[in-house]
Amino acid sequence: MREKGKNAFYAAKWSQWGNEVMNSVGCSDCHDARNMDLRPARPALYEAWQRAGKDVRKASHQEMRSLVCAQCHVEYYFEKDNGNYLKFPQDKGLTCEAAEEYYDSIGFYDYIHPLSKTKVLKAQHPGYELFKQGIHAQRGLSCADCHMPYIQEGGIKYTSHHITSPLANISRTCQTCHRQSEETLRQNVYERQEKVFDIRNRVEKELARAHIELSLLGRRVQQPRKWNQY
Ligand code: HEC
Ligand code: HEC
Ligand code: HEC
Ligand code: HEC
Repeated sequence: MREKGKNAFYAAKWSQWGNEVMNSVGCSDCHDARNMDLRPARPALYEAWQRAGKDVRKASHQEMRSLVCAQCHVEYYFEKDNGNYLKFPQDKGLTCEAAEEYYDSIGFYDYIHPLSKTKVLKAQHPGYELFKQGIHAQRGLSCADCHMPYIQEGGIKYTSHHITSPLANISRTCQTCHRQSEETLRQNVYERQEKVFDIRNRVEKELARAHIELSLLGRRVQQPRKWNQY
């Protein structure tokens, strides 16, 4: 379908692909319906990799266990002069700084702040990019290792498709690798979340202050012109 032209996937009628949709996230988002191999469906992922000189189809099986998630849990934007075409800003890398550099290079911003008149970028949910910066990605884990643990039932071992917090099932997620108690592992997560939360709140206050100060400055700069008008 990608070969048919860039917008074929998104512009297609419901009657063409609709029957493949089971619910908002369907089997064919992650699996090739013909053989059930892991295969992300979104063209934006393949195209981002292509621009970086890589081929999703040649990714390892372990990488695929993350890439099926990376097609959705990722920062994205819509290319306005191309029929609002879905694109991932990954050309310069997967860090926050790389995304900002990319957006600056194409002059993209999400909106202009009404007070400070500053161009603002608003990240959506760069889960894949965040994961790639951490120790677990560096040690070769995939999203599925924590979010889709193996379940043993009778003689059958299968992959849990009930995707939720890994903390709901620590013995099957974290403890397949870590020997610490459930409580310690849970606290490891909560401590990091609290630090992020704390820093976010402080940065938000500073940002709000900066926007307000800029708006006051803007008004002061404009004032002499108004004086001259009278
Ligand atoms: C969000 C992505 C995602 C969706 C949606 C999804 N799967 Fe999977 N599925 C996976 C992953 C990841 C694995 C693990 C594959 C592996 O490691 O080889 C898997 C494994 C499987 C397997 C292999 C057996 C096993 O348990 O490991 C089957 C069969 C399967 N899925 C069926 C389905 C069906 C049927 C649906 C729709 C009802 C579905 N999947 C939806 C990601 C997904
Ligand atoms: C087709 C797009 C899509 C794919 C593929 C996908 N997700 Fe999601 N995911 C979503 C959406 C949409 C939500 C719901 C967000 C909301 O309700 O705010 C969600 C929610 C979640 C949540 C929160 C669930 C909760 O209990 O609140 C987790 C964790 C998650 N996804 C992990 C994954 C992992 C891991 C994969 C790959 C195995 C994956 N997702 C693949 C779209 C996707
Ligand atoms: C080392 C284990 C681990 C790996 C690997 C991992 N996660 Fe998570 N993930 C977690 C934990 C722990 C949480 C927090 C759960 C909680 O707060 O209850 C979480 C939370 C989430 C959430 C929910 C965030 C929210 O705001 O509710 C999403 C979505 C998610 N992960 C997606 C992913 C995706 C996509 C990948 C791969 C790119 C991934 N995770 C890899 C452990 C992991
Ligand atoms: C598939 C194996 C695996 C799973 C599952 C796993 N981890 Fe890890 N974890 C690792 C490896 C490997 C390291 C790196 C340790 C090293 O190389 O010294 C690590 C490192 C850590 C660290 C220390 C590094 C840091 O960030 O400061 C913590 C804390 C941690 N894991 C918590 C968890 C929690 C909580 C879960 C479940 C949500 C989890 N891990 C799931 C393999 C795993």
